[in-house]
Order: sequence, then C-alpha cells, then structure tokens
Amino acid sequence: MKPESVKLYLDLLKKTLSYSLWQEPPVPITLFNETRSLFKRAAVLMLSRALATRDLVVMKRRHLTDYQRSNGQIWPLYADTMIGMRRLDQLQSAVETVLAEGIEGDFIETGVWRGGACIFMRAALAAYGDEDRSVFVADSFAGLPEPDSRACPADRDSIFHRIPYLAVSREEVERNFAKYGLLDDRVIFLQGWFRDTLPTAPIGKLAILRLDGDMYGSTMDALENLYPKLSPGGFCIIDDFFLGPCRLAVEEYRLAHGIDEEIRIIDSCSAYWRKTVEE
Ligand SMILES: C[S@@+](CC[C@H](N)C(=O)[O-])C[C@H]1O[C@@H](n2cnc3c(N)ncnc32)[C@H](O)[C@@H]1O
Repeated sequence: MKPESVKLYLDLLKKTLSYSLWQEPPVPITLFNETRSLFKRAAVLMLSRALATRDLVVMKRRHLTDYQRSNGQIWPLYADTMIGMRRLDQLQSAVETVLAEGIEGDFIETGVWRGGACIFMRAALAAYGDEDRSVFVADSFAGLPEPDSRACPADRDSIFHRIPYLAVSREEVERNFAKYGLLDDRVIFLQGWFRDTLPTAPIGKLAILRLDGDMYGSTMDALENLYPKLSPGGFCIIDDFFLGPCRLAVEEYRLAHGIDEEIRIIDSCSAYWRKTVEE
C-alpha cells in the first residue's frame, strides 16, 4: 500500500472502531444498572419489564463532550473499543516505531473487551506488510474476576465483575475481527483468567505489551508474566494508569524490578514507557 493509503486506511479504522464518526446514541437504562443503588436498580428493572411486554425500551440520553470521547472516558454503546482516539493514535505510533526500528516481538493486549485495540494492531501489521508478527488476544471473555481481597487488598471494592457490559464472549470478538477481514492464524486467543493463561502462553518476545485489565490483580498478573518478555525498545502501555489499584500494581512492579524508564502520559487515563534495558 502507498504510505498515503496506509494513513487513510488506519485513520478510517480508528474512527470506525471507536465509533467516533457518529454521535454516541442514547443507551437503554438497564445497561449500566449494576452501578446503581439497590433501590434504583429495582425500580429500573420493574419499569423495564413492564414496558418490555409492549416492546418498549427506555433509553437514557448522555451528554458527552468530544474530550470525554477522544480520551476514552466513556463506556460506548456500539464502539468495538472503549479506548478512544488518543490512545488509538498512541497505539498506532507504537506499532509504527516498533516496525521502523525493528524491535523484535509480537503484540499483546491483556483485557480486550470487544477486541478493537487488537483488531487495530492486526490491521496496522497488515497495512505495513508485516508477515511475521502475531497479535495475542488475552481475556476471560467472561468479564472481570471477582476481587480477591486477601491476595489483592487494592481490589477489595471492585464491582466490575458484576457488570455484564464488560463481559464479551470470544465468539463475539472473533466475529468483530472477521467483520474487518482480519481474523487469521496470526491472531492468537488466550482464553481464561490471566493468572492461568499467561504463565504458559506460547509467547517468545513481545514488542508491544498493552495492559487493560483495570484491576490490581489483573495488572500484576500481566506484568509478572509478560514484562520479562518485552524486548528492549518495546512499549509497555498501561491503559488504566490513573485507576488507583492498577497504578499501585504498576508502581510496585516497577519498584521491585528497578524499572525507572520515564512514564509518558497518553491521556487522562493512560500512560506508557519504553523498555530500554534487558531485565
Ligand atoms: C476495560 S475492558 C478492556 C477494553 C479494551 N482494551 C478495549 O480496547 O476496549 C477490560 C477487559 O479485561 C478483561 N479482564 C480483566 N481482568 C482479567 C483477568 N484477570 N483475566 C482475564 N480477563 C480479564 C475483561 O474480561 C474485559 O474484557
């Protein structure tokens, strides 16, 4: 592909995957019900059930700014990724740098939801004519784990496991890859809890390690099992850097391993650093 065509294709893909080409639509009031108080939740359920008998759905309009959307601060209704344009731009820049500098290794995202960020990495490899690297897609495909307060006190208050919106099946993610013509044998699914799949994952070297598991435990499991595989020059991207439990895991891991590479802020949620030395 000509460089201009690559740019146009990847730009269009980012806008499509993040649904940025369109207005965010209203959402059914039942969608994020688990985040409401018990009383409100019950009221919403009763109302929705009563209306469902007449094929009616109550929708809630959300007043979202461009800033919130491009910073991935919202839970979108139709997008294939929730990371927003700024993080997609950074991901593109990471892929381009790795390819230009010949940094060795595959790409992985731990915590993929509908798969959009991984779809984008696979697309970028295709657009730049890379025929060697794979994209690892690691997720339970059943949502986030219940917090293990004894092992990870920082996750104590997490309610993410109760939110069905965050649980996307492997079939749906595969369908999403196929929708963009990007499902092939260089997309490798690691299905299960990170603590079970990552220690034995068939991964050699990594050039991009993208962490998006939200919780302390999910972040630590990914760092402990994968960071040693990141090549010098590789990117370690922390999607939830400004979420307390995730940040704590990152800080503890960096301290324990003497990692002092500069942390660069991507947007109001995320940050990354480049590994400069072999562990
Ligand atoms: C915020 S979403 C990821 C968003 C995604 N990166 C995107 O581009 O939109 C978090 C995902 O992490 C997964 N997850 C979190 N902790 C996990 C764990 N310990 N093991 C397996 N999957 C986990 C959830 O199933 C969910 O799909």
